[in-house]
Amino acid sequence: MPNGPEPAARRVLYGRRMGRPLRAGQKALLDTLLPRIGIDGDALCAPFDPRPLFGPRVSEVWLEIGFGAGEHLAAQARARPDVGLIGCEPFINGVARLLAEIAAEGLENVRILHDDARLLLAALGPETLGRAFVLFPDPWPKTRHHKRRVVGPDTVDRLARALADGAELRIATDDPGYKGWILRHVLAHGAFEWTARRPGDWRARPAGWPGTRYEEKAGGAGRVPAFLTFVRRPRTLCQSS
Ligand SMILES: C[S@@+](CC[C@H](N)C(=O)[O-])C[C@H]1O[C@@H](n2cnc3c(N)ncnc32)[C@H](O)[C@@H]1O
Repeated sequence: MPNGPEPAARRVLYGRRMGRPLRAGQKALLDTLLPRIGIDGDALCAPFDPRPLFGPRVSEVWLEIGFGAGEHLAAQARARPDVGLIGCEPFINGVARLLAEIAAEGLENVRILHDDARLLLAALGPETLGRAFVLFPDPWPKTRHHKRRVVGPDTVDRLARALADGAELRIATDDPGYKGWILRHVLAHGAFEWTARRPGDWRARPAGWPGTRYEEKAGGAGRVPAFLTFVRRPRTLCQSS
């Protein structure tokens, strides 16, 4: 840990951070591109405003927590060059895959935290995000592992602070137990409204929501995903964050 300001949160990571050995081209991108577009988790201080990371061409910033191999994030960045995308992912092979996509397509509007998303969430200032995605977070199905789930009271509270009024929070899962947990925790917070009015609203992936590799695997294994869209309720005049 470098000298400098106290980080806003400690990293708490479960799951693997490294898979297959990286190819030479992937290592080269980690050495050259990641330092240019990476966010240093240890240097984050609250309140952090991510908008200056992107410059004036970007009108708002969206966050993806646990982007895996990055196909959803890259698709969003491609579709919306006016939006800055921050992706958080501790798994180095996933980061390497997204870097390859960014380099191949010349995507200018992506920044990467190769680390625990909670470092960023703890630092983000109020109303600094226009949208957030948590797509197929690890379900940790055993009861004794539920505390490892990335969606929980702290994350929901920090997202409620960072998301602007009317901003969407999109969460997907193929685990029925985690679906119930997510709905309970997000709706208990009070800052979010679930937009679904009928089962078809969450059983089918909505337009403008690109698929992910994990979703494909889940479908192949016969698991049925839930696509949950919440909207950040407007703050009242008495609430500042
Ligand atoms: C089941 S995978 C889903 C990946 C991708 N979203 C998809 O749908 O293909 C969950 C991902 O969350 C990442 N992850 C786990 N804990 C995290 C954390 N604290 N911050 C950011 N990402 C995390 C894992 O490394 C993994 O890549």
